[in-house]
Amino acid sequence: MSNRFNATSFGQRVVAHIAGPKVQKLIARFPRTPADTLRELSLAGDDTVDAYLEHAVDFNPKRDDIIEKLRSDAAAGHPQAKALWSELNTVPEWVDFARVKRGQKVFFRFAEIFQMLFLFDSLIGTGAPDFSKVFLATGYLANPSKQSFKRLVETIHWVVNIMADEELGPGSDAWAATVRVRFLHAAVRRRLAAKWAADEVVFPINQEQNCATILSICVNPFMQFPSLGIRSSKEEREDFGHAWRYIGYLLGIPDKWNPLRNGFDWAISFSADIVAHIMNPDEHAIRVANAVLGGAAVGLSDIVERLRPTFVFSQLPAKKKKRIENLTPFFFKIFTHMAREIVGDEFCDFVGFPNNRDIPLLHKVIARVGLSGVIVATRVLRVVPPVRDVTGKLRKGHYKRKNTKNQRNQPKNQNKHIPADRVEVKVEAPSGGPSGARSGDSARAAAFIEE
Ligand code: HEM
Repeated sequence: MSNRFNATSFGQRVVAHIAGPKVQKLIARFPRTPADTLRELSLAGDDTVDAYLEHAVDFNPKRDDIIEKLRSDAAAGHPQAKALWSELNTVPEWVDFARVKRGQKVFFRFAEIFQMLFLFDSLIGTGAPDFSKVFLATGYLANPSKQSFKRLVETIHWVVNIMADEELGPGSDAWAATVRVRFLHAAVRRRLAAKWAADEVVFPINQEQNCATILSICVNPFMQFPSLGIRSSKEEREDFGHAWRYIGYLLGIPDKWNPLRNGFDWAISFSADIVAHIMNPDEHAIRVANAVLGGAAVGLSDIVERLRPTFVFSQLPAKKKKRIENLTPFFFKIFTHMAREIVGDEFCDFVGFPNNRDIPLLHKVIARVGLSGVIVATRVLRVVPPVRDVTGKLRKGHYKRKNTKNQRNQPKNQNKHIPADRVEVKVEAPSGGPSGARSGDSARAAAFIEE
């Protein structure tokens, strides 16, 4: 077995597109991660939580509050519960909460561009078949539907809640929300690992994928900032990375593999290695990439529909549905044009997103103005430090209020989706391959709102 890094050329080209020349030079300063190391990560689960679930008696994620259950099992002397409880409540000696707090503040200085890049960078993950198989098998991101949009928004809510919690540490709301996500993952891993073992497919939600996901939220935006003309200081990057290092710990990434353990620049180079290693898009990528951007288009159309004055527009369900169907392709084309800018043409062609020739000028202009508007606003608000700090605080307040409003009828970051209840989605390439995903606006719109 070769110990040399075995990069796929597709992944390398995507990294080259998102990183730009300056960041590529930085990446080249570090030795490449050996393929065997990445393989070892891809075969590892989350030992402490997996061991607890293995022995947890009578665990039902629908019925139980998992944190209460874990606490009482630990108090009752359950060995696996004690080990997990102690791990979650131990603050590693490298954690500096003053830096964590500074790192959290950094998020709100870049909040809008972060959220925008989160949507488009998640496409890169869809290009890794082992990721996409999990999303399809759980129905998490299987169709371009309102449901997929909701899942993406819920993940963004989680990120905002974590970044806004001033008490982040054992027992805090952010801590509890993160522990619940860890259990959600463990439940999915347990179910799929048992099912997939026979087929020798991937080990689901493994540590390489966990590192890739943390890096895509925390590091990849900074990889893209230089080519977008957005500045950030070394201190901001290191503080932000420090906060995410602790979140990675809470999510069950062992310290020896934590992708932020060697500082931010190294994390950038490690992220490039992981993307190159896992990215090898196939029919799963086509399906999930269309679920991500198609779902976002349906979600936005639905929001517009809800904003329409009810005394002007008919409220008959069929009419409302029709209006959403008509609007969805409009947003989809805008999003795919943005995706071409951010992720590059090669990936977008592969997954069958509309070609630039098929996107009308109006849609391109709106995409350009939207993207440039967010970039310029981010740049301007950062120029003067007092303005940067005040607007950071105001944005934090705004996003917290928005989250509270959106979540008013739901428990916050509870195990809302019960993996065991998921309908399995058959994994098939859309007919006609990549271009099959472009079989006309009305057909697409019909598929969009099927859920
Ligand atoms: C360690 C980094 C990761 C973070 C920060 C993260 C974040 C999240 C969050 C916040 C949720 C809950 C969203 C909601 O409330 O609907 C979630 C659920 C989920 N995540 Fe992750 N995730 C990570 C890694 C992964 C990986 C590597 C995979 C798959 C390869 C994955 C697959 C899923 C699935 C399938 C669910 C939904 C489970 C269910 O409801 O049945 N996640 N994740």
